[in-house]
Amino acid sequence: MAEITRRGFICAGAAVAALAAAPAVAATGVKTVAGKTVVDLASNKALAKVGGVVELSIAKYGKVAVVRTSKSINGYSVINLSCPHAGVVVKQSSGGWLCPAPRGHGSEFALNGARKAGLAASDLRSIKFTATSKTLTIA
Ligand code: FES
Repeated sequence: MAEITRRGFICAGAAVAALAAAPAVAATGVKTVAGKTVVDLASNKALAKVGGVVELSIAKYGKVAVVRTSKSINGYSVINLSCPHAGVVVKQSSGGWLCPAPRGHGSEFALNGARKAGLAASDLRSIKFTATSKTLTIA
């Protein structure tokens, strides 16, 4: 697997932050195989376009989003939607994610989960995955 440099990560993050995100839709064509979650890409047309987002729930992670970040075969981010500050589930906002926790928590994240503002001290947690042209498998 190719190593991702800090500069490459930041550039990719900036590109994703600049995306016009499509509203998230519920993932379909999801099954569990040998303890892993397999998302059928043909069943999730939203992921055919960069900026597309689908959401699903996985027992060991809770609510998760799959974001199409580029046209490459591994051009996705899979992120846990629990805010790293206090665990409130973030909601999609124009171009990213917003934590709805009351009384000024106000954390904001880019579409790929990178922290932008607020009380959260880190990015939304990334979840490991592998992708082929047909499926995305979440560990
Ligand atoms: S729980 Fe999200 S900012 Fe506090």
